[in-house]
Amino acid sequence: MPKITKDTIGVGFLGAGDISILHAKAVARVPGAKLIGLWNRSQDRATARAAEFGCKTYATPEDLVNDPAIDAVFVLTNLESHLEYTKLALAAGKHVLVEKPVGQSIAEIEEMARLAAAKDLVCMPGHNYVYESGMTRTRELVDGGDLGTIVSAYVMYNIHHPEEVAKRYPGVVRQILTHHSYILLYLVGAPVELCAMKATLHYAEYPEEDIAMVQMRLKNGALAHFCASFAADDHAADPWTVMVKVIGTAGSTRYSYRDHVEIKPGLVHSQTYTAYQGSVMNEVKHFLVDGLRLGVPPLSTLADAVTAQRLIEAAEESIRTRTVVTL
Ligand SMILES: NC(=O)c1ccc[n+]([C@@H]2O[C@H](COP(=O)([O-])OP(=O)(O)OC[C@H]3O[C@@H](n4cnc5c(N)ncnc54)[C@H](O)[C@@H]3O)[C@@H](O)[C@H]2O)c1
Repeated sequence: MPKITKDTIGVGFLGAGDISILHAKAVARVPGAKLIGLWNRSQDRATARAAEFGCKTYATPEDLVNDPAIDAVFVLTNLESHLEYTKLALAAGKHVLVEKPVGQSIAEIEEMARLAAAKDLVCMPGHNYVYESGMTRTRELVDGGDLGTIVSAYVMYNIHHPEEVAKRYPGVVRQILTHHSYILLYLVGAPVELCAMKATLHYAEYPEEDIAMVQMRLKNGALAHFCASFAADDHAADPWTVMVKVIGTAGSTRYSYRDHVEIKPGLVHSQTYTAYQGSVMNEVKHFLVDGLRLGVPPLSTLADAVTAQRLIEAAEESIRTRTVVTL
């Protein structure tokens, strides 16, 4: 893959919702990168966000992807439009960072991978959680055998989201268990079977689930557990706000959003979990500097996004059929 050597890597955003705020802060902190401009479906939001981020706006997504000043496009729109905009950017010869969940189906993600490979471009999933030192260190310990035989892994997420925010997303199975899935793949590998349950506990009208749990068996026989909840915050001691644990016969590890907390609201969170912005910062730096300048592959690839999607679809099947599903 050709490596970018020019002084400044130009970035463009398609979509300027909540997550664009974290990406704009991240790009601003990456040396040798600059947010050139953005496009958003509603012009009012585009203008407001461009003023906030200090960049220009484009009248159409085509104008943005065809601007020679732009080398990399961040697809930050809703899930249903990720394929459309990723294809548009890749066809224009631009590298892409596409937010998670990457696609609505395995076929959509595979189409992105085919196009990126044919054009010799990077198309990196927005799998931000794995770009944290606590995660990479756990992976090193697992790979090196330092934790002994892995016996269990847990990914827990308990962050209240009001109904009006949750309505912008699919239910927590797709929206949040996608994070859990790529984290598990990165740390200990894919499960071989799973069973799942979901419930809707606090929405008045929105029909999607606000809590889901999954039990899994890993290849070596170890067990794993996911919990994803928009239903309530966990404010008890040592809370499971976002908590990842890997336990082995010779050692264990923990990653927690609560290691760094700022007492001010963070987007839709009741407090600012510094790791949220931090993980996006690390992910963006990996994409722009390690990836585009140095040719280092993503820590979690489109192939991993396909496996994560397979896991999500298996969880949906298990919920639908009330059975254990083999992967
Ligand atoms: N990595 C993370 O931790 C994380 C966190 C939150 C959201 N996300 C992902 O980021 C993406 C955006 O989420 P958000 O929180 O910014 O949502 P948002 O609702 O705040 O913003 C979405 C933006 O997409 C635009 N949009 C919606 N439908 C569109 C369409 N069909 N065509 C073009 N534009 C359209 C809207 O105008 C809006 O500006 C989603 O894929 C979401 O899953 C990732």
